Amino acid sequence: MDRIRITGGNKLHGEIHISGAKNAALPLMIASLLTPGTLTLNNIPRLADVQLLKRILQNHGVDQRTDGKRPGEDIKSGETVHFTAAHITDTTAPYHLVSRMRASFWVLGPVLARCHEARVSLPGGCAIGTRPVDLYLSALKQMGADIEIDQGYVVAKAPGGLKGADIQFPKVSVGATHVALMAATLARGETMIENAAREPEVCDVADCLVKMGAKISGIGTSTLTIEGVEELHGATHEVLADRIETGTYAMAVAMTGGDVLLRGGRADNLETALDILTNAGVKITASDEGIRVARNGNGLQPVHVETQPYPGFPTDLQAQFMALMTRAGGTSVIRETIFENRFMHVQELARLGANITLDGDTATVHGVNELHGAEVMATDLRASVSLVIAGLAASGESTLHRVYHLDRGFETLEEKLSACGADISRISD
Ligand code: UD1
Repeated sequence: MDRIRITGGNKLHGEIHISGAKNAALPLMIASLLTPGTLTLNNIPRLADVQLLKRILQNHGVDQRTDGKRPGEDIKSGETVHFTAAHITDTTAPYHLVSRMRASFWVLGPVLARCHEARVSLPGGCAIGTRPVDLYLSALKQMGADIEIDQGYVVAKAPGGLKGADIQFPKVSVGATHVALMAATLARGETMIENAAREPEVCDVADCLVKMGAKISGIGTSTLTIEGVEELHGATHEVLADRIETGTYAMAVAMTGGDVLLRGGRADNLETALDILTNAGVKITASDEGIRVARNGNGLQPVHVETQPYPGFPTDLQAQFMALMTRAGGTSVIRETIFENRFMHVQELARLGANITLDGDTATVHGVNELHGAEVMATDLRASVSLVIAGLAASGESTLHRVYHLDRGFETLEEKLSACGADISRISD
């Protein structure tokens, strides 16, 4: 199994190209199931989760063709892939594929909407909490689906097709919003989704669905209204830049010191996190090119943070921010309100010398003068990158095990960081 070796202490200088967002690419790829036409997606990141979803879509009968790079094209921009679901040949998404990635469960919405039946294994994904699916199922039931759980599979049927409904989510869920939104595009009549997730990735999917002929209003707000249509058609869409990758590298630069341009990063999708970094003493400058992050000489100030649905501070940056605060000049408090078990990085950060106490959903981080290298274990996607950030600032050598978690969500992480001066490399056995 691959490991990542880091020798800490180098400042970061230069430029990092921000990839397409994993959390947008996955539902966009899934949206291809809604139409017999061809959905062309540009800027798809090269990630393990994307590869896995390609296999799942293939299993449903989706043809996929990836463009080669043309001369002069920037190899850093992601892949262009054409997805064509002329016929959905299999309405089952099997356990051995779905159990490895939670987002693959989302095929339930489009397959049910288009084929009037779907059989999808209950999901897996990062072990960051119980992660139930009640909101997805109640939304689809309200749209007229008959749903049973049979041997670990959700079996959904809507013989006459789905119908519009007024869905009021009791809690904000990104995945349940994606699924209800996609299903509603092909339902009979009007669907209203209240308390919808407003994450930029949800907006990106909604924008793409509109290009495919869907009638959606309220994009970017917490109330989405969808007028169902008979059929959607093909379209071309570019995956938006990854705000979590952007925030992660911003925190890496904040941690090591230095000056880096995060090319293509969008400040408008990351305002809360960038404000918090500014409060911590980091210099952030947004421009048309991206976001420049700098910290020269001055120390980090402790800042209190609470994770919230968008536009609040993202749970997907909580672990990285905690790594940063381990070196702050004082005590910071971090409260996780989205997932109940998202503190598995705490004991690994402690191995590097961090001083963190946990009480329920709240972590109190007492800044220390120095972190020191150690062997650490990645437990989930975002936790693993927080250990990389800590390792970049720790004295001596750190080794990160279970790197496959990182490969699910970060494209060429070692190359991007080492091009800016980090001493980081992958060891493959
Ligand atoms: C998505 C993101 C993930 C991010 C999360 C929250 C993708 C591929 N993944 O995950 O990176 O951390 O949003 O921003 O986009 N819940 C229920 N019942 C349900 C569904 C969810 O109680 O039926 C709860 C969850 O347990 C959690 C909260 O709702 O406590 C938010 O989860 P949700 O927004 O659904 O996360 P995901 O869509 O799985």
